[in-house]
Amino acid sequence: MRNFAILGAGGIAEVMAQTLAGMREEVHAYAVASRSLEKAEQFARDHGFEKAYGSYEAMLADPKVDLVYIAVPHSHHYQWTIASLQAGKHVLCEKAFAVNEKQAREMIGLARSKGLLLTEAIWTRYQPARRIIDDLIAEGVIGRPEVVTANLDYFITHQERSVEPYLAGGALLDVGVYTLNFASMVMGNQIRRMTASCVMYESGVDAKDNIFIEYENGGMASLYASMTDQSNRTGCISGPKGYIEVSNINNPQEIRVCEQDGFGSRLLRTIPVPEQINGYEYEVRSALAAIEAGQVECPEMPHAETLEIMRQMDECRRQLGLVFPCEDRKDIISES
Ligand SMILES: NC(=O)c1ccc[n+]([C@@H]2O[C@H](COP(=O)([O-])OP(=O)(O)OC[C@H]3O[C@@H](n4cnc5c(N)ncnc54)[C@H](OP(=O)(O)O)[C@@H]3O)[C@@H](O)[C@H]2O)c1
Repeated sequence: MRNFAILGAGGIAEVMAQTLAGMREEVHAYAVASRSLEKAEQFARDHGFEKAYGSYEAMLADPKVDLVYIAVPHSHHYQWTIASLQAGKHVLCEKAFAVNEKQAREMIGLARSKGLLLTEAIWTRYQPARRIIDDLIAEGVIGRPEVVTANLDYFITHQERSVEPYLAGGALLDVGVYTLNFASMVMGNQIRRMTASCVMYESGVDAKDNIFIEYENGGMASLYASMTDQSNRTGCISGPKGYIEVSNINNPQEIRVCEQDGFGSRLLRTIPVPEQINGYEYEVRSALAAIEAGQVECPEMPHAETLEIMRQMDECRRQLGLVFPCEDRKDIISES
């Protein structure tokens, strides 16, 4: 059984530990690393991990670690993914995969050259809801998807990593990434034009973003993401025959197929998603299967898709003039 290790004992690490507790037959919750040994030890006790390390480097030096889960702020994904790969570990890296496409390209290049798995922990790509939506569209229940709308708002301005520029905070990398993935999974990436606007937060990161996409085939997406409020987090895929509504595009719980007639909307079908531990098990399972198969990427989120989403976020940030302290300005804004 593969030994799973968590790098960074924060909020999402706690959630992943709960996922692993439900996967005892599939993967071993082996090690956790924190910058504080005391915190790592407490985490290991709380969640039944075998090893606790007081530095990330010490954990990466452990030859028993197979797969490292990068669970630190966006600003640090690049550094610790590179370090994990250099140490010969497979990597499951949280979203947003990196700060920009250039970093992502280097991370992926290194994984490929070393023959190690590197995959983005964007859970919605791996979840069963994705197949349900794909099948409905293939079945033709709404006809060809013409318009996608999606919103994802969380009131999270109390989280340091969400508001601090030095941690690459802001709505786009934190939550906007899900709206872009939602649109991409339905509409593909043949984009004719992308327009982004935002309202800034007082700390200098984007507080709320509006992204408008026109596709080569005439389709359209209108996406909204924010870290200052709560929204219904709904996605809607519209076609000539009706629409598919996804309640919570970040971990879908229910998918509804509706049609419109002269009298209004009529619900045709409601499809619940299968029972789950907490929704993160699918990305873990996929990573484990890829490692067993000797693959460097997961089919649900191939490297090309990760790079495409990073490119889209770079383009949004170029339009918004948003550059983080941890990156080179010229990687986003080309000065003329
Ligand atoms: N997939 C999802 O549904 C989901 C949900 C939430 C978050 N995320 C993603 O998971 C990642 C971590 O988010 P989180 O909410 O877990 O963040 P968090 O709790 O604020 O921080 C995670 C951990 O990062 C470590 N860290 C390393 N360098 C740091 C620095 N300079 N400043 C602050 N912390 C540092 C800390 O661990 P130690 O002190 O133990 O070293 C901290 O506890 C992000 O990429 C985020 O987007 C994903």
